[in-house]
Amino acid sequence: MKEKRHDYYYRKAKQTGYRSRASYKLIQIDRKFHIFRKGDLVVELGAAPGGWSQVALELIGEEGRLVGVDLQGIRPLEGAIFIKGDFTDDAVKERIREELGGRNPSVVISDMSPNISGAYSTDHARSVYLTELALDFAIENLKKGGVFVAKVFEGDLLPPLLKKARANFGMVKMHSPPASRSSSSEIYIVAKGFRGRPENRERSPEPVNEGT
Ligand SMILES: C[S@@+](CC[C@H](N)C(=O)[O-])C[C@H]1O[C@@H](n2cnc3c(N)ncnc32)[C@H](O)[C@@H]1O
Repeated sequence: MKEKRHDYYYRKAKQTGYRSRASYKLIQIDRKFHIFRKGDLVVELGAAPGGWSQVALELIGEEGRLVGVDLQGIRPLEGAIFIKGDFTDDAVKERIREELGGRNPSVVISDMSPNISGAYSTDHARSVYLTELALDFAIENLKKGGVFVAKVFEGDLLPPLLKKARANFGMVKMHSPPASRSSSSEIYIVAKGFRGRPENRERSPEPVNEGT
């Protein structure tokens, strides 16, 4: 059953010209949570071969722009700027910011996967590490009200990551789109309503001392 579904999305991607079957995961996430709007500025982490980028570019339209990064090179797509590099490298984060030209993205998406070792706890820990870096980047760069979507492998290190997401976004959900394989431990964090950079948030007023 699972393999049949895998073949189904694989074939569908081939027929429609999407570069990856993962495209359908983003389509399904967007249908449920309305991630993209026309004209959005999007940062995409772990973008190769470009299947998610194709979907995002369709949804943000001609006015939108996407800056994508991956360890692998990505064939060009109109409306996208791709950077080849390691996102964990500070110089690469700086290059992304340069390409944004001082603007804050409205959406940060990450489908980054670590190299799979096969040892569950190692892969889970590596995935949480990458996703936390993606979340930190979103918190430092998103515009207020912005959206963050990221893949992570489920496991016991997840709760602190979710806590951080909840502290910074108005709505945080965990979602497994139908196009994810049922055997997979991957799940997507969908966070909407970015509260703004912590240092810019209004503090609640000091309590007034009405004593004598
Ligand atoms: C599942 S693929 C992404 C597929 C993509 N969403 C699509 O639809 O075409 C995961 C990608 O994450 C990338 N990746 C993993 N670690 C990375 C890192 N540290 N910096 C940049 N890219 C990374 C991998 O090179 C790989 O291409």
